[in-house]
Amino acid sequence: MAENSRQRPARKLAHLQGVCQLPDGPGDPGFRDVFLLHNCLPELDYSQIDLSSSWCGRKLASPLVINAITGGAAATKRLNAALARAAARFGMGMAVGSQTAAVEDETLAETFQVVRQEYPEGFIMANVSATAPVQTALKAVQMLRADALQVHLNVPQELAMAEGERSFVGTLENIKAIQAGVPVPVIVKEVGFGIAGREARRLVEIGIKALDVAGKGGTNFLAVEAWRRGEELAPALLNWGLPTVVSLLDVLQATAGQVQVMASGGVRSGLDAVKALSLGADMVGMAGPLVRMLMESEELLQAELERLHEEMRTAMLMCGAANLTELRERVNVIILGETKDWLQARGISVRPFACRV
Ligand SMILES: Cc1cc2nc3c(=O)[nH]c(=O)nc-3n(C[C@H](O)[C@H](O)[C@H](O)COP(=O)(O)O)c2cc1C
Repeated sequence: MAENSRQRPARKLAHLQGVCQLPDGPGDPGFRDVFLLHNCLPELDYSQIDLSSSWCGRKLASPLVINAITGGAAATKRLNAALARAAARFGMGMAVGSQTAAVEDETLAETFQVVRQEYPEGFIMANVSATAPVQTALKAVQMLRADALQVHLNVPQELAMAEGERSFVGTLENIKAIQAGVPVPVIVKEVGFGIAGREARRLVEIGIKALDVAGKGGTNFLAVEAWRRGEELAPALLNWGLPTVVSLLDVLQATAGQVQVMASGGVRSGLDAVKALSLGADMVGMAGPLVRMLMESEELLQAELERLHEEMRTAMLMCGAANLTELRERVNVIILGETKDWLQARGISVRPFACRV
């Protein structure tokens, strides 16, 4: 049974509540298996550490992105405003949550547009489903004067929703049509189940230039949807998906520099972010923890973002990297444990990461 425009705002609010009540996972994103080799002679000054990054043709002061979270219900306007103020303070890119509700009901547009008002010069990403009509995607971009458009893939979540989609035929063609129909770069993202190399290649073949792997180990929409229904979900299904580190390396290996890649899903510290960047991610995204902080207070959100940026700089200095290029090219990264097993099973050698010169 398809969801109508009156039911959707209630679901958006339930997602926020569910994310605040539920722990991450189960399953692990893989960052605890990744170690950055300490450099005892970094020859760097803390003030030299440069976090600037580049995403979809724009230079950004931070490699950390506030990923797609919310909008589409009256109460979310305040949250998007606070997220945008935080993004502006740190020069971060920011995505909004799915805008379909506001395309169908224009009175909800302001719950998204507040982001552009608070952050006029910001790198703002619009967001729709990968199955959305091209016109919906175009209106979502225009609504925000967006700099890029995220299109999300969320098959497990749809299957877990009574009102969710059941047919996923034609999604790739639709993404191609969306890309041809909007005037900004299109980023294809998951929502917490990861992207594998083969599918990344298919997206590259249709001309997609940026992906967000959004792997397993952080916010889990199977758990959130089960919580929303007041049901227990079979534990085996709850652990579905590719861990973020595995997904990141699978995609990087399969696409060999043809796309920019954001790592997200279970990034929970500045150190996690630096690990992802050292493995080759262009950007790093966070969603769930930012919601939890913001529900406490806007001050807490800003303080935590400050701390995350300091932790990124600290970790970079300790491995001797002055900027993201040095981090990717010169820092040695050791990958152990289950993540190494996954990678070996996928034919990806961990040795080159550990033996950079
Ligand atoms: C409350 C909430 C709502 C979300 N809504 C969307 C959405 O509308 N569109 C989307 O692409 N991703 C959405 N996401 C997924 C995030 O963008 C991200 O991919 C995922 O949560 C994994 O990152 P995390 O572990 O840091 O939360 C949402 C996440 C949260 C926490």
